[in-house]
Amino acid sequence: MAAVPNSSEFPIIRPRRLRRTAALRRLVAETRVHPSDLVLPLFVKEGLTEPAAISSMPGVYQHTVDSVRKLAVEAAQAGIGGLMPFGIPAVRDAVGSGATDPNGILNRTTRAIREEIGDDLVVIPDLCLDEFTDHGHCGVLREDGTVDNDATLVRYAEMGRCLAEAGADLLGASGMMDGQIGYVRAALDESGHTDTGLLAYAAKYASAFYGPFRDAVDSQLKGDRRTYQQDGPNATEALLEIDLDIEQGADIVMVKPALPYLDIVRAAAERSPVPVAAYHISGEYAQIVAAAEKGWIDKDAAILESLTSIKRAGAGIIATYTALEAAALLR
Ligand code: PBG
Repeated sequence: MAAVPNSSEFPIIRPRRLRRTAALRRLVAETRVHPSDLVLPLFVKEGLTEPAAISSMPGVYQHTVDSVRKLAVEAAQAGIGGLMPFGIPAVRDAVGSGATDPNGILNRTTRAIREEIGDDLVVIPDLCLDEFTDHGHCGVLREDGTVDNDATLVRYAEMGRCLAEAGADLLGASGMMDGQIGYVRAALDESGHTDTGLLAYAAKYASAFYGPFRDAVDSQLKGDRRTYQQDGPNATEALLEIDLDIEQGADIVMVKPALPYLDIVRAAAERSPVPVAAYHISGEYAQIVAAAEKGWIDKDAAILESLTSIKRAGAGIIATYTALEAAALLR
């Protein structure tokens, strides 16, 4: 056996010392996810009498307004940060009329959540038309079938005012139309909703991982959203999108999806003067749950590792379908 060198000849640095016990590892952990960092997206469907399971998102449901009330109370008790409701209307049309009906499903749900939990959670309804249109696009269409950016802004402004009146704290502007943050900000201010904030889906990529979400909202979309959502190979345009949204008055900027775009999360954190969020989306959730169902990965550990990585990359706020489970694990 070779002789062990003495320390004067071999001043070895031993990083493993700080990994030896769980207590040491806990003491030196640089990143901690807290339940209050987490925002739970949820689905509510008009006309349902019982919550309905979503087959590609085991553990996630399409809710009734009543079951959302219970979920909101549970979320407040779990100490998470907020809720992000998405509405699924019974009737859809070309301009998404249900989005601007004060009794439409998302407006009603927003009011119900607010009634149930007061200011205990941040309520962030989705500000986008795709759930409400019969063609499934995030905006209104021109005759040739392309999405009309500026006509869509007018609809977003109206929808934003309705959601503000229903009691939203922040609006999740997810449509990726140019100018949407500035346009909606001005409309909110003109109608006296100066305290309603905007969470800008600033860098939202056209992603294959949205698949399960489209089941969750009974999406009518044929084709794709590649003319408005960002293209995966590009990072520079994400920086432009983030800067534009900040200039236009975004209160929070978000990157979406999360794990495949952690470089963008990091870049956003480095340049943004406003808080940065990331959306751990449906397909990211489904991958964990499906692999865990097969016994291929440890679900709890995979959830915590995913959320920790997203936070380590620079997102202080994480939208995730795992919010309640994660909050329980973190306690
Ligand atoms: C559309 C919207 C999408 C998601 C949130 N808002 C999907 C899409 O762009 O098709 C996806 C969320 C998820 O996958 O969890 N306004």
